[in-house]
Amino acid sequence: MAKSILVAGGAGYIGSHVCKALASGGYNPVVLDNFSTGYREFVQWGNLVEGSVDDRDIVAATLKKYDICAVIDLSGSIEVSESITDPLKYYENNFARKIPFLKILKDHGIKAFVFSSTAAAYGEPDSVPIQETQKTQPKNPYGWSKLFFEQMLKDFHAAGGPAWAALRYFNACGASPDKEIGEAHDPETHLIPIACMASLGSGKPLKVFGTDYPTPDGTAIRDYVHVMDLAEAHVLAVNKLLEKPEPFVCNLGNGKGISIRDIIASFERLGFKLPYELHSRREGDPARLIADNSRAKEILGWTPQYSDIDTIILSAYNWHKMRHNQQ
Ligand SMILES: NC(=O)c1ccc[n+]([C@@H]2O[C@H](COP(=O)([O-])OP(=O)(O)OC[C@H]3O[C@@H](n4cnc5c(N)ncnc54)[C@H](O)[C@@H]3O)[C@@H](O)[C@H]2O)c1
Repeated sequence: MAKSILVAGGAGYIGSHVCKALASGGYNPVVLDNFSTGYREFVQWGNLVEGSVDDRDIVAATLKKYDICAVIDLSGSIEVSESITDPLKYYENNFARKIPFLKILKDHGIKAFVFSSTAAAYGEPDSVPIQETQKTQPKNPYGWSKLFFEQMLKDFHAAGGPAWAALRYFNACGASPDKEIGEAHDPETHLIPIACMASLGSGKPLKVFGTDYPTPDGTAIRDYVHVMDLAEAHVLAVNKLLEKPEPFVCNLGNGKGISIRDIIASFERLGFKLPYELHSRREGDPARLIADNSRAKEILGWTPQYSDIDTIILSAYNWHKMRHNQQ
């Protein structure tokens, strides 16, 4: 029988792709989600339990019922700008609610915990590509809430809690190429879905913030990693922790810098018209964020397969087009 993995936040964008990858990797995903931002139609693999990570009775009953052997936690609140105006929401949902969760997991003998952390843990990097050994100095409550949770995992493991992996994602993007699931946040603040919607006629041109950065074309550079590649890394991280319960932190990025003008050029190359307008820089946006992904490659044996920019945009565009046509 397939081993069951609890996927908290499995009805969300990245979580649903993780469930799909777990199912193809021979596991049974069990989604635990409170549907605060997730979608029922994204839960297509394994089992569903509706609830929050701090619903003690629900979590305890789920661990027992499905004989859960490992946990992947993608639950949380994700909007950087909202974390500045409502920091307590972030410290509550991304940190405090997980204290009872971790206690129950330990009580049930869970030995492996994979956590979705973020490149926001680094803040403004000293240099790129960013290695995991760089200083962590988040610039917003979202980043701090994630970093504090990493620290809690570390301290709890030293006191008998589960072995853990903190996966620091860079810019997650793209969609399942078969169009089963894709990226939908409300409000949508992520560049590629906004660009896809602009291209499909949302009437809101893509806003390019900053054209005078010290980068070759003046626009900000980020590391875009396809959600299918991210999802695969979670399966590898579970395998790794179950095989050897030693904690680790690793970056999940493609290791390549892509500017906003590169993204616009990719839309044009693919034959999709993209209306855009130029604006001045937003405060706090670094010029360049690029992952050094060598640790993930070494520890997990992970190689991104889908993360070239045209593949990302084509998959995202096709999914948004299908959704757009259904509305
Ligand atoms: N999207 C990115 O580019 C990115 C980058 C870095 C890190 N991350 C992290 O990855 C994770 C997933 O991001 P996403 O883009 O899929 O977001 P998402 O909002 O689509 O998914 C989050 C899911 O968690 C659920 N959830 C929230 N609070 C919960 C709770 N208390 N109990 C149970 N379920 C709860 C939501 O309903 C949703 O289904 C987040 O933790 C986010 O911080 C995302």
